[in-house]
Amino acid sequence: MIFTKKYRRTLLVVLGSLLMIGVLAACQTDEDVVAEYPIVLSTKLINEGRPIYQTNCASCHGDANTPPPMAAAPRHTADGHTWHHRDEQLVGWVLDGVPNGQIMPKFRGTLSELEVQAAIAYIKTFWPNDIIQMQARGEH
Ligand code: HEC
Repeated sequence: MIFTKKYRRTLLVVLGSLLMIGVLAACQTDEDVVAEYPIVLSTKLINEGRPIYQTNCASCHGDANTPPPMAAAPRHTADGHTWHHRDEQLVGWVLDGVPNGQIMPKFRGTLSELEVQAAIAYIKTFWPNDIIQMQARGEH
């Protein structure tokens, strides 16, 4: 017998651990990833955010080159007010409501925090670089 009893036991422990790691990794979903601030912009996030924004937001707010179809909805372009607010505040408003807002629905339960982050990341593609940097520094 090549495998001693001790060797077999070690092998079992190693294989068992690998299996556990595999199962845990398979269970990991986007919901387990905690949203961090400020939002780290990446092409991947922007590409995820584009359809989220176009499906959930553009009907009121318009898009990069289209004005808001709803007069009461502020535009998110550089000439609007959105960039005057920090990422965490913007995401919080979309999830739980804009202070004194009356029209925009709350998105908690419809979109995850990460999906709202992605939509905000897409909004940032409407802004030139200097505005992106000013927003990041909290300048108005
Ligand atoms: C039904 C129309 C409607 C939809 C859909 C909608 N909004 Fe709004 N949004 C508004 C209105 C109107 C306001 C102004 C506050 C109010 O009266 O509710 C607003 C305010 C905001 C603000 C704060 C104001 C500012 O300066 O930018 C942000 C940010 C925002 N919306 C982002 C979004 C995002 C992101 C989505 C999609 C996930 C979205 N909105 C979907 C109508 C809408």
